[in-house]
Amino acid sequence: ARAALTDVLAAAQQARSGLGAFNVIQLEHAEAIVAGAEAAGRPTVLQVSENAVRYHGALAPVGRAMLEVADAAGVPVVVHLDHATDVDLVEQALTLGFTSVMFDGSTLPVEENLATTRRVVERAHDRGASVEAEIGEIGGKDGVHAPGVRTRPEDAARFVEETGIDAVAVAVGSSHAMTTRTARLDLDLIATIRDAVPVPLVLHGSSGVPDDHLREAVSAGMTKINISTHLNGTFTRAVRDMLAADPALVDPRKYLGAARTATAQEVERLVRLLAG
Ligand code: G3H
Ligand code: ZN
Repeated sequence: ARAALTDVLAAAQQARSGLGAFNVIQLEHAEAIVAGAEAAGRPTVLQVSENAVRYHGALAPVGRAMLEVADAAGVPVVVHLDHATDVDLVEQALTLGFTSVMFDGSTLPVEENLATTRRVVERAHDRGASVEAEIGEIGGKDGVHAPGVRTRPEDAARFVEETGIDAVAVAVGSSHAMTTRTARLDLDLIATIRDAVPVPLVLHGSSGVPDDHLREAVSAGMTKINISTHLNGTFTRAVRDMLAADPALVDPRKYLGAARTATAQEVERLVRLLAG
C-alpha cells in the first residue's frame, strides 16, 4: 500500500535499520523493486528523479504507474520525487498523490535554498506529504561536485530547524553514479550529524558504497539509503546477457522480464542487508 515517508522512516530509525530507496526509470523497475521488497517483507521507496521525468517528457505517465504499483503492494511503499529543482514539478507530484518529494536546492545560494525549501515544505505538509532536502553537495551529480565535500553538523541542524523538512540528505563521502563500490564514508561524521539533527538522514550515491560499509553507515545513523546506478547495472547486465545469448530474440518481454527478475532479486538482497 502507499505509505508516508515519515511513518516508514520513523519505524526504521527506531529500529536502527536502513530503508532502501530505489530509482525508477520505467515500469519494470517499479515492479521489480516492489517484488523485491515484498519478498523481504519490508517497506521500500519508489523514487523517480527529475532527470528521469525529463527523459519521459512528463511526470504523470511514469508517476501514475508508480502509484498504482505502490497501491497494489503487500508492503508499505513510499512514492517519492527525487532531486527536484523545479517547484512546478513538486506541485505536479503532490497533485498526483506522491507521498514525498525531495527538493534539491543544493546548487542555490544558501538563503535562496532555505526560502524555497521552506515554501516546498508548506505546500507538501498541507497535502500530508513529506519533504527531503539537501544541505551540502553530494559528489558527482552533474560532474560539478567533488567527492571530498562534507556537510557540517551545525549547518544540517540549522537547515532542518529553519525549513521544517522531514529528512535531510547529507554529504558524508559518497558520490553519485559510481560504477565501482569503492567509496569510503566518514562514519564519525555520520554519528555526529545524527546526534545534532532531529530528523532521519539520507545517504545519496549509495551505489558506490560496498555492502559491509552500507551496514556500518546504517549503524552509525543513516536511515534512507538511495540506490540507483547499482540497480541499473543489474538490470542492464541481464538485458545484455540475454541479447548476447540469443541474437534472434525480438520480444522485449524476454529481456525486460529477465532484467526485472534479476533486479527484484538484488532489491530483496539489499533490503534485507539494510534492514539488519
Ligand atoms: O538520488 C538518488 C541516489 O542518490 C542514487 O545515487 O546512482 O549513485 O546510487 P547512485
Ligand atoms: Zn541522489
